[in-house]
Amino acid sequence: MERKVVIAGNWKMNKDAAAGRELVESLKPLVAGFTDADVVVCPPFTTLSAVVAAAAGSNIKVGAQNVHWAESGAFTGEISAEMLVSSGVEYVIIGHSERRQYFGETDATVNSRLKAALKAGLKPIVCVGETLAEREGNKTNEVIGRQLRDGLAGLTAADMANVIIAYEPVWAIGTGKTATPAIAEETHKFIRETVGALFGAATASALRIQYGGSMKPENARELVAQADIDGGLIGGAALKADSFAKLISEALGR
Ligand code: 13P
Repeated sequence: MERKVVIAGNWKMNKDAAAGRELVESLKPLVAGFTDADVVVCPPFTTLSAVVAAAAGSNIKVGAQNVHWAESGAFTGEISAEMLVSSGVEYVIIGHSERRQYFGETDATVNSRLKAALKAGLKPIVCVGETLAEREGNKTNEVIGRQLRDGLAGLTAADMANVIIAYEPVWAIGTGKTATPAIAEETHKFIRETVGALFGAATASALRIQYGGSMKPENARELVAQADIDGGLIGGAALKADSFAKLISEALGR
């Protein structure tokens, strides 16, 4: 099964509108040749419009970092899927470990956000991953199995065609400690098997699974060369145009 590589930059809480526009303007010529990958940038909410405008007409797609499950209403501080779509956003990250750790995100809220995103036509990037304590306690598959079962509950195989899973081992995020390609591949394979058991073999074989956690130009090639690794969700290395473009080029084996 040929799966198109998908590389997304998660800018987290970095870059105001001017800095976001500048990064995208620098990135455009550097990634214009990477038509064999989906290239996505995910800025903070207040930077989205500037980035959508800067990316217009290029092969750079725009994603948000979170979405609320209601269409509208009394949810102070929240943003709906419809609002994202009407701002020109195509992708959305859901259930990032930082949201699970600091903002009370659970598998149930991930599931609600995911359903709202799909209903509005967004392409969700659903994050899963274990902490260091869970890995050391041999709980990795148990944790990720639960995150997938509960996070994807109620979805159909047709829904899953629009979903990307990001495997981000919490112990590798922002720490400089990348999972070795073999360790990452083992868990990616488990994710694909679990999705296969839930939604069938065809859905599993078409599913794109990104790796995230200290992915950089130096390790992207070997990671994405693994059988079940189809791209990356990038934090730090996505904040500069040259490193992000180099990382994509490495991931594509150029
Ligand atoms: P780093 O690439 O900075 O480790 O962050 C990974 C991440 O959390 C992307 O969502």
